[in-house]
Amino acid sequence: MKKSTLHINPDKTLSHIAPEIYGQFSEHLGRCIYDGIFVGESSDIPNTKGIRNDVVEALRSLNLPVLRWPGGCFADEYHWKDGIGPKENRRKIINTNWGGTVEDNSFGTHEFMELCEQIDCEPYIAINLGSGTVQEAADWVEYMTAEGASTLVELRKKNGREKPWKVKYIGIGNENWGGGGSMDADYYASEYKRYQQFCKEYSGNTLYKIACGPNADDYHWTSELMSRINHWHAKGISLHYYTLPSGNFDQKGSSTDFTEKEYYATISQTLRIEEIIKGHLRIMDQLDPDHNIDLVVDEWGAWYDVEPGTNPGFLYQQNTMRDAIIAALNLNIFNKHSDRISMANIAQVVNVLQAMILTEDAKIIKTPTYEVFYMFKEHQDATLVESSIDSLSTGCEDITVPALSESVSIEKAQENIGNIKKITITLANTSLSEGTEIEICLPNSYQFTSEASISLLHEEVHAYNTFEEPENVKRTEITKIWNNNKQVLYLPACSVCRIKCSIQQV
Ligand code: AHR
Repeated sequence: MKKSTLHINPDKTLSHIAPEIYGQFSEHLGRCIYDGIFVGESSDIPNTKGIRNDVVEALRSLNLPVLRWPGGCFADEYHWKDGIGPKENRRKIINTNWGGTVEDNSFGTHEFMELCEQIDCEPYIAINLGSGTVQEAADWVEYMTAEGASTLVELRKKNGREKPWKVKYIGIGNENWGGGGSMDADYYASEYKRYQQFCKEYSGNTLYKIACGPNADDYHWTSELMSRINHWHAKGISLHYYTLPSGNFDQKGSSTDFTEKEYYATISQTLRIEEIIKGHLRIMDQLDPDHNIDLVVDEWGAWYDVEPGTNPGFLYQQNTMRDAIIAALNLNIFNKHSDRISMANIAQVVNVLQAMILTEDAKIIKTPTYEVFYMFKEHQDATLVESSIDSLSTGCEDITVPALSESVSIEKAQENIGNIKKITITLANTSLSEGTEIEICLPNSYQFTSEASISLLHEEVHAYNTFEEPENVKRTEITKIWNNNKQVLYLPACSVCRIKCSIQQV
């Protein structure tokens, strides 16, 4: 059996893990909003103000911190005034990006804010720069966040919302290097600066403005943008990176039917994100040495062929143990870079791409990716500590990838009693064939104190949940008594594990 050692240094605290790293993304795309989240008040599916209760409950269990909306590509075609006021008067449009369906705008600003209130998460509003106007953007921010007697505030009140909402996160433009207007970076930077200037802070509302950053490894975009903006203009720039098994949009492959080689190729592609993050951060470090501007990975996840028989424009895909591993690898990487990454939003929350939840009429299933977000949620708002694992390799044919991935955090100081610290360790084993025995080592000055709660997700890599068998892939939970400063844990092949325990200085 393979063996490895995980070293943890609880005294070396590194960075705060922003809860927003565990954020999600919801777009008017396929069955994400309609069916997946919003069914309308007259639906037989149990709902509150038209929003599915089962989906809200599942997302609340994840402690979902932030939700991005209304797109994606849809955002740069979205005109917010179409989505307010009496539903029967709302403008119907063609959703040209996603299947050419009729968008009746029955889910608009008020409904989205209601969703965020039900989930208890922060809204992240993606503002239209591609086909919108500065006035439209400025008006939306005023409509949502201002108090007073302006015409827009009166309109909001007339539409049923007396108090302004708090909106911290706004992104201005989406993929403006591509679907958001095919702009050059210097042109976009000028447009961005003009737009952001007129998005005002009303009534004590503070804005965290996010500029459209690069696609994958487009370092040119980052250096052009970063050399034209400063922290007065933006608090963050976005990064989009999708995991494509072959690295190519034309050959994505099936979400469920893949070979061992395709699996390792997918793992290798997903791990590229770390080099890409480091590459952009190097440029950002040069142009913003005081680190005033953060990196916001506001679209990431696996992208495969749509499920056979479904609308190609709806991006509906299944979700296997391969996706659980992908989620764990990415979240461990984001934790490790939490000094510079302030938010990340997996694409997307329901029924689209690497979703948390899939729905079919009144039924829902939680995907293996959901399970990983559940297992990792204790990292939210915790402090990353120094850790390292002896690196083993795995793979097949000409593909070699690291077998193990980890990150370790301790809960905020005020939540720790005396010199006992609560610690969360998350691990993934990417190998399809070999389990590993891991010795978890604390420094001599520390020891584990009593119970460790161990959550394990482990199944055959092709396993997934269906509406008939919703618990094919399911966490197992065990409790063990841990003491001394070394513990041995067996991590099976193709698994994700989370350990919650306490440690004490001796
Ligand atoms: O998530 C699907 C699409 O991928 C988004 O709309 C777009 O921003 C990206 O290209």
